[in-house]
Amino acid sequence: MNIILMGMPGAGKGTQAAKIIEQLNIPHISTGDMFRAAVKEQTPLGVEAKSFMDQGQLVPDRVTIGIVRERLAKDDCANGFLLDGFPRTVPQAEALDQLLIDLNRELDHVIYIDVAMDELLRRLTGRWICRDCGATYHAVFAPPEKEGVCDHCGGELYQREDDRAETVANRLKVNFEQTNHLLAYYESNGKLERVYGALPIDEVSKHILSVVRGTVS
Ligand code: AP5
Ligand code: MG
Ligand code: ZN
Repeated sequence: MNIILMGMPGAGKGTQAAKIIEQLNIPHISTGDMFRAAVKEQTPLGVEAKSFMDQGQLVPDRVTIGIVRERLAKDDCANGFLLDGFPRTVPQAEALDQLLIDLNRELDHVIYIDVAMDELLRRLTGRWICRDCGATYHAVFAPPEKEGVCDHCGGELYQREDDRAETVANRLKVNFEQTNHLLAYYESNGKLERVYGALPIDEVSKHILSVVRGTVS
């Protein structure tokens, strides 16, 4: 199963991806997570990506397409993949189409998690993430049992650099423009499936899984 999970910053891509891959035996490929790992390890990719991420800008297509190309060639993608946050521009979508032709694969689902702007702001500013396992929480909507501590592994929770108010505003603006082009791209080739994302986390998961399993059209 080859799936793209699209959505604005804070729409719940990462939250939903973690739940979906529990059900389907495919890897969760998040370009944002890959860039953050590279930043942490201070690799040349990380140094380049950081300058864009800190300003809420997109990392250049050339770099982003390159890391996805390498990632999709790995053995664990043999049964498919769940892409989170890629593609994010039309050139990335075109590059992915070509890549899939080269791999003799097709996209099964392009799912857009639809959430209004004011809700996105509330989610991003209240988000906490585990430093060790990457689990995602929200101070109000999905709090950990013990404040500041991960339920899964006991790791320390932190807030992402790019979740600061001034960066969030720019991330939303940049992504809004690109998302509209990308929605038109997948709408025009009949692949786009929209899921209403402003419901409790488990309700959204149920809806996404029913789309993936073909029980709703
Ligand atoms: P990335 O890490 O992908 O960030 P993003 O797209 O801005 O999306 P987020 O991770 O912020 O949101 P999410 O949709 O995963 O929401 P989450 O599940 O955490 O990218 C970071 C940066 O890397 C980019 O800005 C860019 O610089 C670069 N980059 C990455 N990919 C790129 C690409 N393809 N091209 C170029 N550059 C790229 O949920 C958010 C919060 O809401 C959490 O607190 C969660 O608990 C809560 N929540 C989730 N669902 C619900 C719900 N249903 N109800 C209530 N609360 C909820
Ligand atoms: Mg995410
Ligand atoms: Zn953890």
